[in-house]
Amino acid sequence: MTAASIIGAPARPFQPRTDRLRLGAGLALDIRPLTAADAGTLQDHVRALSARSRHNRYLGGVNELSRTEIDRLLGGAGDTVFPLVADVLDGERRTMVGEAVYAIDRAAGAVEFALSVNEDWQGRGIGTALLDSIACRAAETSARLLHGETLRGNAPMLALAGKVGAAVRHHRGDPRLVRMERELVSAAVANVRDLTPCERLDLRRLAA
Ligand SMILES: CC(C)(COP(=O)(O)OP(=O)(O)OC[C@H]1O[C@@H](n2cnc3c(N)ncnc32)[C@H](O)[C@@H]1OP(=O)(O)O)[C@@H](O)C(=O)NCCC(=O)NCCS
Repeated sequence: MTAASIIGAPARPFQPRTDRLRLGAGLALDIRPLTAADAGTLQDHVRALSARSRHNRYLGGVNELSRTEIDRLLGGAGDTVFPLVADVLDGERRTMVGEAVYAIDRAAGAVEFALSVNEDWQGRGIGTALLDSIACRAAETSARLLHGETLRGNAPMLALAGKVGAAVRHHRGDPRLVRMERELVSAAVANVRDLTPCERLDLRRLAA
């Protein structure tokens, strides 16, 4: 049996849509694919993170993204790595407040994620929305597992993982890290009390 037949329907291509969500206080949140026009703003976002947040996001002493990494995000990685950004909309004003990346391993039926939210906007549900948007997009590719890794002491990320129903497990390769895993269960087989990531996202969705 091939891996593709184990995970069911053939993987669909990347969904380049925007998720427009309610953020509260009259604000909306767009979660959308990164474009070439965002390269400078993405770099500003990374530079503006606190040293601790950057350390947590990149698992080391990164101050900014390299040109190679930006190019990789903007298409160098073909149809495997997908970068997203989160913009807050205040009337006509759009401000990038978060970013996330997910990478699809089609043979394994798994999607890996990483994300960050600007310090001033943390604690307002943006990390949850980014993770639900990734999980929903991942489920649409027929992936069965969403996973990520983070430093053991990263309390905000571990709390976020718990909130979205991800299990935190031992990391086999690096004792500094833990592995977060969330099964992507389709609506058809989900426990009726559990919402799928797409259903959770729909509760916050605004007309685009
Ligand atoms: C982890 C991170 C993305 C969370 O983003 P966020 O927008 O603040 O997340 P949310 O507002 O959706 O919060 C989700 C839950 O996390 C928990 N949480 C958020 N900030 C927290 C903090 N500072 N301390 C403890 N728990 C926290 C809360 O339980 C919250 O749920 P609740 O509001 O229902 O109580 C953000 O802290 C961040 O960018 N950190 C730096 C980068 C990083 O660590 N990335 C992870 C590596 S993959």
